[in-house]
Amino acid sequence: MDALRIISEDHNSLWRMATTVDQLAVELEAGVALDPNFLSAALDYIVQFEERLHYPKEDGFLFHYLRLRSPEVATTLDRLEQDHRDSGSRHRALRAAMAAVAAGEMSGPALATQLRHFTADLKSHILTEEKQLLPLAHKTLLKEDWVEINRAFHDPVHPLFGDAAQAGFRELYHRIVSVAPESLGLGGKSVGHLPGGASPAQAEVLLRVQGLESCYGRIKALKGISIEVRRGETVALVGANGAGKTTLLRTLSGVQPMSAGSIFFDGEDISRLRPDKRMRRGICQSPEGRQVFGPLSIEDNLRLGAYTQPRHQVAGDMEKIFTMFPILKEKRHQPAGTLSGGQQQMLAIGRALMGRPRLLLLDEPSMGLAPLLVQEVFAVIKTLKSQGITILLVEQNALAALDISDRGYVLETGCVILTGSGNELVRNDQVRAAYLGM
Ligand SMILES: Nc1ncnc2c1ncn2[C@@H]1O[C@H](COP(=O)(O)OP(=O)(O)OP(=O)(O)O)[C@@H](O)[C@H]1O
Ligand SMILES: [Mg+2]
Repeated sequence: MDALRIISEDHNSLWRMATTVDQLAVELEAGVALDPNFLSAALDYIVQFEERLHYPKEDGFLFHYLRLRSPEVATTLDRLEQDHRDSGSRHRALRAAMAAVAAGEMSGPALATQLRHFTADLKSHILTEEKQLLPLAHKTLLKEDWVEINRAFHDPVHPLFGDAAQAGFRELYHRIVSVAPESLGLGGKSVGHLPGGASPAQAEVLLRVQGLESCYGRIKALKGISIEVRRGETVALVGANGAGKTTLLRTLSGVQPMSAGSIFFDGEDISRLRPDKRMRRGICQSPEGRQVFGPLSIEDNLRLGAYTQPRHQVAGDMEKIFTMFPILKEKRHQPAGTLSGGQQQMLAIGRALMGRPRLLLLDEPSMGLAPLLVQEVFAVIKTLKSQGITILLVEQNALAALDISDRGYVLETGCVILTGSGNELVRNDQVRAAYLGM
């Protein structure tokens, strides 16, 4: 039965996005100029969500078993499945209408009418399922059907239904809603300007972590970590696989719960703040494995990184990112998924920079890259450091990381076992033997 709840949650997400599109239609009709990027992101979300997450659940499971157990709804199912198959052409028609408006060949209100038809169809489709099919499934599907369905829906590594796919879409949804036009009442606030380049040794402490613990179930991944990062410093976190580096960064940005200890940022206890609040204070993370949003354009990916920022500064900040990474400018309108691994890494860093970080968390920025690109990534980090950005850098590539860092911490199974300046650690025999493979 959990499957029905999951499908209903999908419906809620789609419904909310459709409602947002409806509000855009109202604005278009009132003669307000449309932000085509936002509409485009919202439609992208709907089509990706439908085709990648939602339709496969219905076609492959719910509709499949309803056909077996309730033949009387076959006609309804035929119609809904046809709707699913037509999804691509519906979205192409809307894209064409948006392009026509941009080219001055179609009026805003005419596009609004098309958007309204689109959302009305989407909502009526959802209502048919919610009012007719889900209650029917509840009544007529057999126990063994549910075993089958629930097994698929609960497989945590299922590429369509699993945790990663769900989490990716939740984040995408959250961010799209957050970049919605101010008229929708969702605008962000400033966290201020980039800090100047103070001399790290005397600079005050920006981040102070004490006795930090974090668990995955009964496994304690962080066992009382204490570290400090001063304003303007680059601090490396090195250690073998599974040492807890990623967990530490995720705990700092607030997406991983902590079970003990404290985190002070700029003098404020942020231990209990939600991740978005921490981001507003300037803690921005470029996650492990890059995680750019493949279907969205490079520009849109960057814009998403600025969702806590006031809109007026976004264009200027984006130009700065483009100066730093000219290849992103060249490809700004292409889907991020078409970029090479190295370019995606640049985009992930650029996206974090769009949040105007006061503390930039970089998780394995060189992972999986060819040696030349590894060097380029390290050159970028040096540039950011020279601009005065405070950086906490996680790297497997320990020698290179310590080389460009002011200080470093060596982690082993959830504990800090050694700390010192970058130079000291690079020269330390124990470190060289254990972590640098020398
Ligand atoms: N989602 C999870 N569920 C359960 N245990 C986890 C999970 N993620 C990490 N762990 C465990 O927590 C510990 C720390 O993992 P973490 O990913 O933080 O290490 P890491 O230093 O980043 O390693 P890597 O070099 O692979 O990036 C490891 O023992 C790992 O197996
Ligand atoms: Mg890691």
